[in-house]
Amino acid sequence: MGIKITWHGHATFSVEIDGINVVVDPFFAGNNPSCVRPVDEVEADFILQTHAHGDHIGDTVELAKATGAQVISNFEIANWINKHGYENTWAMNTGGGYQFPFGRVKMTPALHSSGLPDGTYGGDPGGYLIFAKDATLYFAGDTALFSDMALIGNAGIDVAVIPTGDNFTMGPDDAFESLAYLRPKVVIPCHYDTFPPIAQDMDDWAERVNRETGVTAVVLDVEESFEL
Ligand code: NI
Ligand code: MN
Repeated sequence: MGIKITWHGHATFSVEIDGINVVVDPFFAGNNPSCVRPVDEVEADFILQTHAHGDHIGDTVELAKATGAQVISNFEIANWINKHGYENTWAMNTGGGYQFPFGRVKMTPALHSSGLPDGTYGGDPGGYLIFAKDATLYFAGDTALFSDMALIGNAGIDVAVIPTGDNFTMGPDDAFESLAYLRPKVVIPCHYDTFPPIAQDMDDWAERVNRETGVTAVVLDVEESFEL
């Protein structure tokens, strides 16, 4: 049945893996200025939470309650979601992996911060490697460039989803440099254009990636999908 990655704007993705719907960092229309899809039109069996910031956890509790999806996150975020009246969580921490029905998920480091919107300590930020049956995916989460991305790249990444917006995360130049460490077959940029400080021209960036590296850059429109 394959894998289908749909961008909803900002860092929010739906990943369909062999018929199982995994939503990464739910932040939908009404909260997310670049998103057109309302949260009540989203299917989710699992939710992957990279970190606690409002532009990533904005609709997580609402989506989880509406769908019954299991929320996979770090320990502190799982506790916070439990305190908001939702029990179906799965706590992990950096460097750990666990087998889920759609594949093995490994929580990777990210160089960022992770306070919850109400000021609660949100643990460390992260990203995820997803070892699905047919492909290995990497969602970097919000992060700076760091050389240990080379260790993440050792997994053999088919598709890497990385932030490129600058200001809060890697900008285009550092995101370009990260590809030498991550060595994915395909890269999908995100976390740009949502707000004025992260406006970027990703078409120029993609041209540079395609010209100067062996990586294929795929720039998605909002609600567009990449299938593999
Ligand atoms: Ni963040
Ligand atoms: Mn963010």
